[in-house]
Amino acid sequence: MRQVFLQGTPRPADYWRSESDLVAYDATFAQRIGWKWDFVFQELRERGWTPPAGALLDWGCGSGIAIRRFLDHFGTRTPGRLHVWDRSALAMDFALRRVRERHPHLAADASGTSPGSFSGTLLISHVLTELAPPQIEWLTRFATTATCILWVEPGTYAASRMLIGVREQLRSQFKVIAPCPHQERCGLLAAENARHWCHHFASPPAYIFTDGHWTQFARLMGIDLRSLPLSFLVLDRRPPVELPAGAVRLIGHPRCYKGYALLLGCDSTGVGERRLTQRKFPAEFKRLKKGKLDGLCHWQCTGGEVVQLTPL
Ligand SMILES: C[S@@+](CC[C@H](N)C(=O)[O-])C[C@H]1O[C@@H](n2cnc3c(N)ncnc32)[C@H](O)[C@@H]1O
Repeated sequence: MRQVFLQGTPRPADYWRSESDLVAYDATFAQRIGWKWDFVFQELRERGWTPPAGALLDWGCGSGIAIRRFLDHFGTRTPGRLHVWDRSALAMDFALRRVRERHPHLAADASGTSPGSFSGTLLISHVLTELAPPQIEWLTRFATTATCILWVEPGTYAASRMLIGVREQLRSQFKVIAPCPHQERCGLLAAENARHWCHHFASPPAYIFTDGHWTQFARLMGIDLRSLPLSFLVLDRRPPVELPAGAVRLIGHPRCYKGYALLLGCDSTGVGERRLTQRKFPAEFKRLKKGKLDGLCHWQCTGGEVVQLTPL
């Protein structure tokens, strides 16, 4: 399982062998993915975004962590029917059972075949790197039939760049809600930004650092529990919950040096690095060193240096 999930290459064959694979996955890798979804859902809720009424589909559901976290955050009043799809019947069965245990009153089913179209909220989580290019093309076309798309992938260069490709194909048909604070072409596609990728960091809950099972899992897997990088994309056909004009999204971790940091920011004019000095912003500098600077802000810059910074 470790090889499968950390390798990040297309997997032509189904790898779920037994119920116990899914139980183990759901208690470990899936929990970490759930904390990434929490990060995305929390921002959406803070911004006043709500899902449309209607059906919910978790495509490539695995153990179904995405659909469960969605219901935890947005409640069970809006969803119409719940659907899960995965090429593994074992995974679909597991995901359905887990969601029904928690929400027995909701109608939920597994599709018999991959659905051809879907009008509702489409959740996609950690599948891109397992798909071959024609499957990604198919999935992107399929996604155009949804009302909104919530998509979370690992925060790696490869996964982020694939998701940027999807965004570019879909942005004329949807409003981009997040992470981009604009609807323009992705600024990371500019030649000078080829080394960067769009990634963000979720926070795992504090208890895992003193929990023997998590410590053992981290040791066995060679994983740093503190680091939870993700790439994500939220698209919606409905009128957007607008961000204030001039909003900037900070990308990745700032690069810290003695007395200053370089922040990579994205806005409607593109993506670029700005210098923030400790002298001018002592409190912000302290927070960014702890990884606690807000991801969305307003800034004013002069000659590549931040002169005003306001969290949104
Ligand atoms: C890394 S797991 C992620 C599972 C779940 N979405 C999550 O976030 O925990 C990838 C899932 O995609 C499924 N998958 C891979 N290729 C697929 C395909 N072509 N069609 C449908 N599901 C696929 C796998 O069976 C597996 O359950």
